[in-house]
Amino acid sequence: MYILSISCYYHDASATLVKDGVVVAAAEEERFTRKKHDVSFPINAINYCLEDQNITIKDIDYVGFYEKPFLKFERMLYQHLECFPKSYRTFLSKLPSWFNEKLRIVKTVRKKLKYKKDILFIQHHLAHAASAFLASPFKESAIVTIDGVGEWTTTSYGFGKENNINLMKEIRFPHSIGLLYSTVTAYLGFSVNNSEYKVMGLAGYGDMNRKTNLYYKKLLEVVEVKKDGSYRFDMKYFKYHYSNKMPSRKFCELFGGPILKPGAEITKRHKDIAAAVQLVTEDILIKILNHVHKETKLENIVLAGGVALNSVFNGKILDSTPFKKIWIQPNASDGGTSLGVSLYIYNVILGKERKYIMENAYLGPSYSDKEVKEFLDKKNIKYSTFKNDEELIKKTAKLIHENNVVSWFHGRLEWGPRALGARSILANPCNPNAKEVLNAKVKHREKFRPFAPVVCDDDALKYFKCDNPIPKPTDFMLMVYPILNKWHKKIPSVTHVDGSGRLQTIRKYQNLLYYNLIKEFGKLSGIPILINTSFNIRGEPIVCTPKDAYKCMMGTGIDYLVIGRFLIKREDNPKDMWDSEKYAND
Ligand SMILES: [Fe+2]
Repeated sequence: MYILSISCYYHDASATLVKDGVVVAAAEEERFTRKKHDVSFPINAINYCLEDQNITIKDIDYVGFYEKPFLKFERMLYQHLECFPKSYRTFLSKLPSWFNEKLRIVKTVRKKLKYKKDILFIQHHLAHAASAFLASPFKESAIVTIDGVGEWTTTSYGFGKENNINLMKEIRFPHSIGLLYSTVTAYLGFSVNNSEYKVMGLAGYGDMNRKTNLYYKKLLEVVEVKKDGSYRFDMKYFKYHYSNKMPSRKFCELFGGPILKPGAEITKRHKDIAAAVQLVTEDILIKILNHVHKETKLENIVLAGGVALNSVFNGKILDSTPFKKIWIQPNASDGGTSLGVSLYIYNVILGKERKYIMENAYLGPSYSDKEVKEFLDKKNIKYSTFKNDEELIKKTAKLIHENNVVSWFHGRLEWGPRALGARSILANPCNPNAKEVLNAKVKHREKFRPFAPVVCDDDALKYFKCDNPIPKPTDFMLMVYPILNKWHKKIPSVTHVDGSGRLQTIRKYQNLLYYNLIKEFGKLSGIPILINTSFNIRGEPIVCTPKDAYKCMMGTGIDYLVIGRFLIKREDNPKDMWDSEKYAND
């Protein structure tokens, strides 16, 4: 039995294919169209899923969709009427996409896919909840979902048992932690639904002391938080319920100035505001989690929704709540809901036993050495061939140790926003200039943002103050932990200003080549850790195909590309060099 599910038309369109209860293929549309956060109908991701299994749409038994569009439209209408006439313009501007796309999803699926069987619509937070619980290793777990907004819901909690999910309570729009975080993101001049993680990084530079951070106190005037973590906003500080803008004039007055222009200088005030929203978010989430534990009395917790990507908070959960185990899927935001929908249909609606645990994030397309070679030869690209894996690992580790920036393309593309060793850029964390080199050559990102370290799971506790045993979400780069003091100066480019690191752990069974490469690098440097950053041009999604990978290397200052069994040196191919910075749009 095949179940194909779709999320689209809001942000991060994606498709997931489940075969007999097992996720066999999943990908975001942006990886194929090369348009970051592409929201359009994910026809490329769907085609990939079908091709991967060598099937056609006729083989699909159910198609699922990640929300109930009419319920969401009802909320839009209600919101408009509540806020009329302020809402008039925004409402009108949104109508065409509702009438042309969002309310016509059944017709679109039938027409574009030529699909004739059932289409099932799953409520948005149920899809989030299912993506977390049904892919987790837990038979029983508490569930918390927190995002910007689904149909009406912005936060919900409940529990999952075997193949059932029961969401017990919810908080409704316009009160939303996700939207509060996005409001501050917009206020600090960053792009909403894209750069929330920059605010999280900036918070580390601000005053994280609740007693002394002035803006923390101000933010508590905006948000009323009850003992159980439920919260209400004073909506005069916001505009998102009636316009495309987020902070209101009152918000700007309270926080001491206008919305920061993109790229303008970030001052101590801005850093403290970032810290304040991180602190308030953590206060609310810890209260919610403690309350959920009290209500469910369960030891396990799974999280989903965009806020579940707040890795700084995630690293504190097991320490600050009675929960003993945690699981978050790598694509916890809206992009990951198609996976939840497929599993929900199989396990809950059809009542079938659970057969799937997500052990790694490698669910996207892969390319054989034959395909890679064909591409390289056709394009007249100069390359050399590794004799075997041992040579590949030894040479690559040496290149990284010699402070080269090496792009790494192996196996199936990652599911979710993080590069986890299938499409990664790797560098030497012991090199004190690595951060500057990576920024100058490839990433061109804000100076305050550190790079992430990757370490084999059996080495992690030597370098990081992780929960022990190391939680599985750490494999997906979803937990920030303190780096032990004695290593701060030895791995400066991956140590954040507050001494933390957003590490990825890799286990042998997940990706042997990547695991062995890190170990081999450890033999050369004495520290088995690499810098791992996503393999992409600034403003573009992570690379998908060999063509994307080669283009990315040639347009940036990446020194080498290790792709399958092949090694390509940028300098050997001057004819294809170009400057991606001229075209960067982030
Ligand atoms: Fe969501």
